[in-house]
Amino acid sequence: MAVTYLNFFLLIIITSYISEVLAQNDEDPTIKTMEHFSGYSNHDSPSCTSSSFSVDTDSLQLQIDELSTFSDTPAPSVTRILYSDKDVLARRYVKNLMGLAGLSIREDAVGNIFGRWDGYDLELSAVASGSHIDAIPYSGKYDGVVGVLGAIEAINVLRRFGFKPKRSLEVILFTSEEPTRFGISCLGSRLLAGSEALANALKGTVDGQNVSFFDAARSAGYAQDQEHLSSVFLKKGSYSAFLELHIEQGPILEEEGTSVGIVTAIAAPASIKVDFEGNGGHAGAVLMPHRNDAGLAAAELALAVEKHVLESGSVDTVGTVGILELHPGAINSIPSKSHLEIGMLLVLDEYAFPAKTRKVKVLEFRIVNQDPPSPSDESIIKAMEDRRKELNLTYKFMISRAYHDSLFMARISPMGMIFIPCYKGYSHKPEEYASIEDIANGVKVLASTLAKLSMK
Ligand SMILES: *[C@@H]1O[C@H](CO)[C@@H](O)[C@H](O)[C@H]1NC(C)=O
Ligand SMILES: *[C@@H]1O[C@H](CO)[C@@H](O)[C@H](O)[C@H]1NC(C)=O
Ligand SMILES: [Zn+2]
Repeated sequence: MAVTYLNFFLLIIITSYISEVLAQNDEDPTIKTMEHFSGYSNHDSPSCTSSSFSVDTDSLQLQIDELSTFSDTPAPSVTRILYSDKDVLARRYVKNLMGLAGLSIREDAVGNIFGRWDGYDLELSAVASGSHIDAIPYSGKYDGVVGVLGAIEAINVLRRFGFKPKRSLEVILFTSEEPTRFGISCLGSRLLAGSEALANALKGTVDGQNVSFFDAARSAGYAQDQEHLSSVFLKKGSYSAFLELHIEQGPILEEEGTSVGIVTAIAAPASIKVDFEGNGGHAGAVLMPHRNDAGLAAAELALAVEKHVLESGSVDTVGTVGILELHPGAINSIPSKSHLEIGMLLVLDEYAFPAKTRKVKVLEFRIVNQDPPSPSDESIIKAMEDRRKELNLTYKFMISRAYHDSLFMARISPMGMIFIPCYKGYSHKPEEYASIEDIANGVKVLASTLAKLSMK
């Protein structure tokens, strides 16, 4: 617990430090033009900078709309579950776009898809960008998708510009960022980052219909002769940089009218399961002073979570009790057991407090998943910041409060993320929306940052 606390504050310190350093460098004159970083001369058009990048917004919007039709629920909702028929069709659609963009395609044993544009120095490690296309039930069509189709469009932008990458550029579609089917978030990127524990756990993992992970993967054409997934692991240093373009999934950029968010760190949430146990009893017979009500202990903990988060004084700290169950769950019975599941960024120490005042036992206090947070790479932040300046877009440094594949890519590669505004911060529901203008801005920042990093 203490470790998480510490990590979080370190994160804040690191990110405010980064912001300061960047603020001091506001007038950095280096690398203003494509000529400067493209490695070839642009003398015929000396004013040509990345601000003249053209994003094909009509095609990109059409692709977003078409991809959303691969769904198991009616429009405008999108439901696309890992390895389902619709997922397989959507993957085919994306691979087709990668092919049209001139990328050579590789798929690994769990269906992470890589589309590569070879650079002219094949000795160097590639620069990559990508996101996911799986969608939880009844969600929207932009989460993840913007970062996959946007990365392919970024490649198209650079090709139209006549850019020649030095380091290869790669677009990645990550398998199963959402935990819907097997209860594991960022499944593909965790494996890429070399999670031996996950590779082993998947041998015994089944979905809600008792379909094993391997049977499901095989039905989608993956993991054919595999017993172990170590073939998916990537070596540290496989990429010199990884970038993800994503809708903010929060309201800040839209409210402030800011074009891009430069993510300085991803703060990974912890999820905590707590079970309380009391004596229960008949709701009419047991007098109030003699009770130890497990339900009220749970209610107090829920309020304590809220209080704790509000008192932290940080807008980036959130805590939610999303599950609260009482046993036996009858109107004439004092709850003898309660079960809560809490998602939060800080782990609170006060969980024992309702247990004391309510005289109930803590049967279980389990931190279910706790991935360490990750700061973005400073030189990538700087590169994004320069690009956005060249493009004359308003920006803001932000912390990502949600999980992303980038969190795991950061274990094997320097990492950065670009956020774009989305309508009211809505995500994971059909109302999710980002304007094509905002998406195009994100694609421009992505394209010019990829170009810059490819030349390093
Ligand atoms: C799930 O499938 C396995 C293997 O096919 C079987 O042994 C097991 O009994 C099944 N479990 C349930 C709950 O159906
Ligand atoms: C940059 O954008 C602002 C509006 O956001 C505009 O007023 C200004 O003229 C632009 N500068 C350049 C150099 O295009
Ligand atoms: Zn996402």
